[in-house]
Amino acid sequence: MRITDTADLWYKNAVIYCVDLETYLDSDGDGIGDLPGLTQRIDYLADVGVSCLWLMPFYPSPRRDNGYDISDMFGVDPRYGDHGDFVELVRVAHDRGIRVIVDLVINHTSDQHPWFRRSRASKDSPYRDFYVWRSDTPPDTSEEAMFPGQEDGIWTYDEKTEEWYLHHFLHTQPDLNTANPQVREAITKTMGFWLQLGVDGFRVDAVPFAINQTTLTGADQHEFVEPHDYLRTLRDFLQRRSSGTSSAMILGEVNLPHQDQLAFFGGEDGDQLTMQFDFTVNQKTFLSFAREDARPLAEALSERPQNLSVETQYANFLRNHDELTLDLLSAQERDEVLDTFAPEEDMRFAGRGLRRRLPAMFDGDPRRIKMAYSLLFSLPGTPVLFYGEEIGMGENLEVPGREAVRTPMQWSQDKNGGFSSARPSKLARKVVKGPFGPEHVNAAQARRDPDSLLHHVGRLARRYRDCPELGWGELTILDQPHHEVLAHRMTSGDQSMVLIHNLSPKSLVVPLTLHDEEKGTELIDLLQDGACAVDAEQATEVTLEGYGYRWLRVKRPGDPRLL
Ligand code: NOJ
Repeated sequence: MRITDTADLWYKNAVIYCVDLETYLDSDGDGIGDLPGLTQRIDYLADVGVSCLWLMPFYPSPRRDNGYDISDMFGVDPRYGDHGDFVELVRVAHDRGIRVIVDLVINHTSDQHPWFRRSRASKDSPYRDFYVWRSDTPPDTSEEAMFPGQEDGIWTYDEKTEEWYLHHFLHTQPDLNTANPQVREAITKTMGFWLQLGVDGFRVDAVPFAINQTTLTGADQHEFVEPHDYLRTLRDFLQRRSSGTSSAMILGEVNLPHQDQLAFFGGEDGDQLTMQFDFTVNQKTFLSFAREDARPLAEALSERPQNLSVETQYANFLRNHDELTLDLLSAQERDEVLDTFAPEEDMRFAGRGLRRRLPAMFDGDPRRIKMAYSLLFSLPGTPVLFYGEEIGMGENLEVPGREAVRTPMQWSQDKNGGFSSARPSKLARKVVKGPFGPEHVNAAQARRDPDSLLHHVGRLARRYRDCPELGWGELTILDQPHHEVLAHRMTSGDQSMVLIHNLSPKSLVVPLTLHDEEKGTELIDLLQDGACAVDAEQATEVTLEGYGYRWLRVKRPGDPRLL
């Protein structure tokens, strides 16, 4: 690829970092993180190697679902600051070469949103069809509720007009009728607004739910609407409105198997989402970790559709702000992961996942944690970090539900981990206690320790950005004798890398045979000192210590690159 392509399609080798403002840094001592707090930490993020910031919802909201229940899509929740603070954040981030994307919730609003208040007021309201209503008694939908502990179905009866409205999430999050052209227009208007304030794209929430309205264009009308047209509309709009030297992107949350995700990219046309999180690879990675066997991950990577439109990209992640959902695994595989990493009931969520962060699952073993992040950055696609992963934060199981992993960022050993000067009882969420608490895990200490996870992640981020073949390249899984090891090769044009990861604590020798390489080609270690000659006939043997990893550049004679 040309340098200019990598700049245009910047998201194909970006390092994305997700921030929940609420718990990042409180600049005014009220116990709640805010926009000026985050702005103060942009230099820290630049230092980590982050090139794109993803802001979780910061809009006005009753916060029944951590802000994913929005009551004003154009607003800034005053607890976090105002539009001036938002623009200031974007300006500072851009100045440091960091792009900014924001959450776009297209499937639902809060029940406090003026649209829903008007919609529920009367059956004749012009806003009635902004949401999905039914007059007949719904069947049992308990299986479809996303939060089974909190909701027993996806329809709620509304006294005022004596009908039921649809909500896949909480009953305080009514689903929008996305087949309604007025709703589509209202959503694109929202995108236009934030693009004008400088954002570089959107993380689109709950996409499959949002495009499942096909016929409900009015209480009694049954005009068929092609559901994926909604995504085409969003993409077209984005393309028209994002001008300048690089394109904006839309990163969709589509928790479906690879084959089903294809339609959300727009198949070969690639005219819908530009990026999607890879939930299959995420879940199979944890299965591989649990078994200390790289094969499930290797299979998932191999069956990932190739030859997608050049503008599309997968986003890889280990943990995010939700539970680690295992819903794409078989029941037996799910149990294996749960038994290994969430042995206590309290560590589990809704029977399908874990409410833990990765270092706690690995009992804090630094070798294993470092290997896991090396693996994340080495996978084909774009890596996404959740705040605090770079320093190895753990969870607080005393905090209920999914909030257990959304605790305050641990900046230092100071009061409240340096997150806020407020009284602990006033904090947005409780700080982690115990071995993963701020006395042991914090950014300030990690900065001073050259062997820290923070430095490791920083190195990986910089190397990753320096090696566009990881984000852009074609994948080959390399045969080797140990099922504990993932050996893969990423190639783009004449740039190529070999990456090996040992998922087990055993030391192993990995033979690498690179055929068709000319004499004088070397494998250069990009993370530590070391190089070895490639012999086309004989295998090069690379020793991996327990949980060891290597990033080896295939450097041919005359290659002008620095290393
Ligand atoms: C997915 C988000 O990641 C999650 O946190 C939220 O609860 C649901 N979508 C509903 O918006």
